[in-house]
Parts: sequence; C-alpha cells; structure tokens
Amino acid sequence: MVNLKTSIAGIPLESYFFNASGPKCMTLEELLALAASNSAVVMSKSSTFEPREGNPEPRYCNLEFGSINSMGLPNLGYKKYAEFAPLLKVQTTKPYFVSVSGLKLAENMEMLKYLSEIKDIDALELNLSCPNVIGKPQICYDFDQTREVLREIEKVAKKPLGLKLPPYFDFVHFEEAASIINKHNIAFVTCINSVGNALFIDPEKEVVVIKPKGGFGGLGGAYIKPIALANVRKFRELLRKEIQVIGVGGVDTGVDAFEFLLCGADAVQVGTTFQKEGVKCFARLETELKAYMFQKGYDDISDVKGKLKTL
Ligand code: SIN
Repeated sequence: MVNLKTSIAGIPLESYFFNASGPKCMTLEELLALAASNSAVVMSKSSTFEPREGNPEPRYCNLEFGSINSMGLPNLGYKKYAEFAPLLKVQTTKPYFVSVSGLKLAENMEMLKYLSEIKDIDALELNLSCPNVIGKPQICYDFDQTREVLREIEKVAKKPLGLKLPPYFDFVHFEEAASIINKHNIAFVTCINSVGNALFIDPEKEVVVIKPKGGFGGLGGAYIKPIALANVRKFRELLRKEIQVIGVGGVDTGVDAFEFLLCGADAVQVGTTFQKEGVKCFARLETELKAYMFQKGYDDISDVKGKLKTL
C-alpha cells in the first residue's frame, strides 16, 4: 500500500494533493465541495480586505495545454473566509488554509492579524504574486518591497504562514528571493503562481481569448509545468530545510505529481485541472500517483522526495 500522507507546517495531510487558491474555492458551497472531496486541504480563494467582483468577463479560458486567466481576485472579502472556518470544520477534519492577497501592506497586516485569531483556520498563504490586478505589479518581482512586506507581516501573522511566489527565471533572482525568505518566519512557499501576462490568440478569429488587459493573463496548466518544476527544485535547494515547498503548475496526472516529488515538493496544489475536472480530480490523481509509485517499487513519498538525478 503506497502512502501519500504528508504534512505542511506540522499539520498532517491525508494525501499529497490539494486545491490551488484559484478556481472553485470562492463560495461556501465550493469550499464545502472541497471539504467533501479527496483534496487534502480546503484552500480558500485569495481574499482581499473588501469583497471584489474581479475583472470583466470573459476572464478565464481553457486552452489545449492549460489555461489563461485574468480573474482579478474576485472574492467575498476576508471576513467571510473567517466566518466559513467553523462551518467547514463541522463538515471535515481536514485543514483549512486561507489565502490572503491585500492590495496594500496595511491591508495584508490587518487581515493576517485578524485571521490569526480564528481557531478553525490552520494556516495562511500570502499571495504576493497575482499578475491580474490592474495597476498593481507582482510584489515578489520587487525585492525591496518583498523585504519590507516580510519584515512587517511576520509581526502579526501568528498562524503558520506560506508565501505564494511568482515564477522566477534567472538564478540570480532565485538566490535573491530565497535569501530574503530565509531570514523570516515562513513555513512554506508555494511555487508557482501562473506565468503572468501571457497572450493567447485565436488566429481564426484574429482575437485574444480573455477581455481584461487587452487579452494578457496568467498562463497555467501543462504549458508551465517545466517552469514550476524548476522553481520547486531551485527553492528546495536554496531555502532553509525548515521551509517547505509546495508545487503548483501543470499537475494533471499522477506522473506530473511524481516529477514534483522528485524536485522536492512536500505537497502539490491543483489549479487548471481542478477547474476543468472538478473535485473528482483529487481521487484520480491519488490513484495515479500510487499506481506509478507502486510500479516503481516505492512505498512512501519520502522514498522519492528530492531524489531527482542529474547527468
Ligand atoms: C486571480 O484571481 O486573478 C488569480 C489569482 C492569482 O493569480 O493570484
């Protein structure tokens, strides 16, 4: 029997897979569906200080090898995700993580402080990498700002705190980001958010496929898996060993998850595939990863984690 149990920030997880803060995790109904599924965690949509409608539609498009989105953080506001916590815990014993993505540092401080006091929230994921808020650059591409944000937020966050990072593409940037994160009380990083400001075109109609920002949006799914794997691998190498790494980006099969495991991911999140397939994807992914590991003679994720070979 292959064991996919893992833990994040000391919180036991029943399996290696859970939902990315992205699709289908905004409403109570959607979160309850996750609670009833094989997702190892119920992760909320990134919450802001005030509720947000998000960007104009169409703002999400499934593509042959992934997706493009410019949702713009539609969500019910952070207080709702706090209110949902005890309701979810009536339905499930699985952990509840709340994602936070304030538009200003002061908002992130206020939200993290408030959510830290809610008993039924197990961990917080601070999203510093949304590419879709018009007029707001991704914080993690500005290292001075990242330094300041991390210095301030650790004063108020009293739950295990993760950071959702954008993809980096240069070794110098990996090193600088990791050296900043290593100085702070961060429990995990989530690599990667969508690859921002991609442009997908329908050549037949000679038009872009989403409305906001003239068609520019975050690319997800299979297109970005090699980038996500590289980020997991590099951050695993550069971060203090106490800081865990969660992989996200193109997890569509058990074999995809196995590749993240080889790179050292402690768990993986599922975004585009969850959007396409719904909650049943989590049970399928578990079955596929177990079958692949069994076929290779592995019993436990620790047999594989971080064991990628180089030539
Ligand atoms: C969005 O709501 O725009 C997607 C979330 C993200 O990319 O952080």
